Amino acid sequence: MLLAPSKKALVPFVSVANMMRLVHHVGVEIFLKELTDAIEADFARWPEFDKTPRLGSHSHDGVIELMPTSDGQIYSFKYVNGHPKNMAQGLQTVTAFGLLADVATGYPVLQTEMTVLTALRTAATSAMAARHLAPKSSRTMAIIGNGAQCEFQALAMRAVLGIESVRLFDIDPKATEKALRNLAGSGFETVACTSAQAAIEGADIITTCTADKAFATILTDNMVGAGVHINAIGGDCPGKTELHPDILKRADTFVEYPPQTWIEGEIQQMPKDYPITELWRVVTGETEGRRDPRQITLFDSVGFAIEDFSALRYVREKIRDTQFFEELDMIADPDDPRDLFGMLSRAAG
Ligand SMILES: NC(=O)c1ccc[n+]([C@@H]2O[C@H](COP(=O)([O-])OP(=O)(O)OC[C@H]3O[C@@H](n4cnc5c(N)ncnc54)[C@H](O)[C@@H]3O)[C@@H](O)[C@H]2O)c1
Repeated sequence: MLLAPSKKALVPFVSVANMMRLVHHVGVEIFLKELTDAIEADFARWPEFDKTPRLGSHSHDGVIELMPTSDGQIYSFKYVNGHPKNMAQGLQTVTAFGLLADVATGYPVLQTEMTVLTALRTAATSAMAARHLAPKSSRTMAIIGNGAQCEFQALAMRAVLGIESVRLFDIDPKATEKALRNLAGSGFETVACTSAQAAIEGADIITTCTADKAFATILTDNMVGAGVHINAIGGDCPGKTELHPDILKRADTFVEYPPQTWIEGEIQQMPKDYPITELWRVVTGETEGRRDPRQITLFDSVGFAIEDFSALRYVREKIRDTQFFEELDMIADPDDPRDLFGMLSRAAG
């Protein structure tokens, strides 16, 4: 006979519906701002974390990745895919879910959807980097690639930096129309552009978030003027980049975790003695971020496990004492911990 699961069997689970309810309950921009601060707090204690490049399983059409980390108290991992061809079949390029566990017992303490949460944490990480690297007076951003990540990027840059104007370009005008629709009434000045060159005109921050499983050249060197901050998030896999290498020769480049970024980021195109700065060292004040108004700064973002850890930790705190989760019967909990088979036998008939 099946008995009701004990308390120890239950793991809080945040579904897509509940994640969306939670974000609206908090407010999208407040959520992005608080998440930015949560990620920054974890970057500030970077040496405390276990770190490894993510484990990618590459195929012809995409990649499936596992992203683990731990601070010694809490362990986390995210499952995430990247399949640029999915969109043509009505599927998303990126989907994800993740888990937090208690290091002391190994028991999971939270499981959540992370497709929406990844877009939020990627935008929050971009904003966190821009807070240290973009010109302080930044009011205009260009977004090249107007897919799933696009509006999140705009809202995070406004919540954290006060961006007022967004210039949009995508090779597919339908993507730009979708972004314009979603941002209408949000208080942004929005401009649809017919080329990447037109989009970056007058922009203080250039975000590239295109998806293509190839060495693409979304920006060439002659397009990029002095003083801008480039937030390059779409080059995040071996053989998948967005910037011409000549831009990197003029830019000061900041990265998350070098062993992963050398494999996946824009810097995979550069010789191994190309200088890079770890972003966490800027966050702690050990190294300078932007030091010169004419400097081109580049955040070569690939997405690192600690950002997902921060997002999961933040969601765990936010759902406490709310209705925005269910309890999943996920951990077998026999009365006698050694009598797993007895528990199974008693469940017969
Ligand atoms: N760095 C990170 O942490 C991180 C996190 C999430 C996603 N990503 C990456 O960001 C990229 C965007 O993700 P998404 O979920 O928005 O993908 P998406 O497929 O929803 O959107 C990508 C958009 O880019 C457009 N595009 C493709 N080539 C282009 C070009 N040459 N010029 C202009 N537009 C072009 C497509 O038409 C599409 O609208 C992907 O490459 C994804 O892998 C990175």
